[in-house]
Amino acid sequence: METPPHTLPLVDQAPATESFRDAVLEGLRTPQKQVPSKFLYDERGSELFDQICELEEYYPTRTEIGIMQENVDEMVQAIGPQARLLELGSGSSTKTRILLDHLDDLGVYVPVDISRSHLMAAAESLAEAYPDVPVQPLCADYTSTFTLPDPPQPVERTVAYYPGSTVGNFQPEEAQRFLSRIAGAVAPNGGLLIGVDLQKDVEVMEAAYNDAAGVTAAFNKNLLRRMNRELDATFDLDRFEHESIWNEEKGCVESFLRSREAQTVTVAGETFDFAAGETIHTEYSFKYTVDGFADLIGEAGFSVETVWTDDQSYFSVQYCTVTN
Ligand code: AVI
Repeated sequence: METPPHTLPLVDQAPATESFRDAVLEGLRTPQKQVPSKFLYDERGSELFDQICELEEYYPTRTEIGIMQENVDEMVQAIGPQARLLELGSGSSTKTRILLDHLDDLGVYVPVDISRSHLMAAAESLAEAYPDVPVQPLCADYTSTFTLPDPPQPVERTVAYYPGSTVGNFQPEEAQRFLSRIAGAVAPNGGLLIGVDLQKDVEVMEAAYNDAAGVTAAFNKNLLRRMNRELDATFDLDRFEHESIWNEEKGCVESFLRSREAQTVTVAGETFDFAAGETIHTEYSFKYTVDGFADLIGEAGFSVETVWTDDQSYFSVQYCTVTN
């Protein structure tokens, strides 16, 4: 794709394609069969996820957008003038527009995404919508090490933006390791604006992952379809069912694909037996209390400065600064 004139050249740190095959085979050989949730997002999976965000039951997206709209002036003040805004997993950068609409003194916007095509499309459309903001796209796996390119001009500070409660898809120890790396990337004197879903009535949390229209079920089952297509697997989608349940002990909604009956499936030439009722673990969606998240992020080298929430305290957007 051609680089538009007001977009700085793409900085490409994309890793060699990680083997879906290796990750799946390794996960299916463990006693609790599992596949890492990042593999839910092939092209169809990403489309289904966009549909999930529009569902009545899926409260996080609209609640986070409401919090952003209501408090954007304070957020902009926290970010400060001449900052470098680093968006982790920028996708289509929808929520970022709320910030960019109000950040009239931004040094540079750096969207980071592993999908080169999504990244370039978003960078192009943002550069057109915000001609005064230099956009410096970085193609990288933000969950592993990446190096920030030099900004086009000196900046006052770097502020990472991580919306969507995507932090909840890591287990807490992993989240802490990841956030420590981000603290290193924005230090010294940097910050993090992060969306964090909060613990609430179990029915509300479970309904968000068991929508009546079955979109989340289709999103989860799409993983089976992907294994069939890319790994020559023999999953019959009708013989598995989607399940998402709140795990009180861990503090997360866990998603599974449950085998409806005893069956044998082949994946990349290897056979796997499923007992009736046996599951493949496909996703963690951790929900935090405000205090629990402050402890976790404190261990990662950040201190929480401001927590914005909605009327029902369903969701939070938090501004954190690096503790030196
Ligand atoms: C991207 N992530 C924060 C979503 C979540 O809520 O865990 C992914 C998702 N899975 C099913 N519905 C939404």
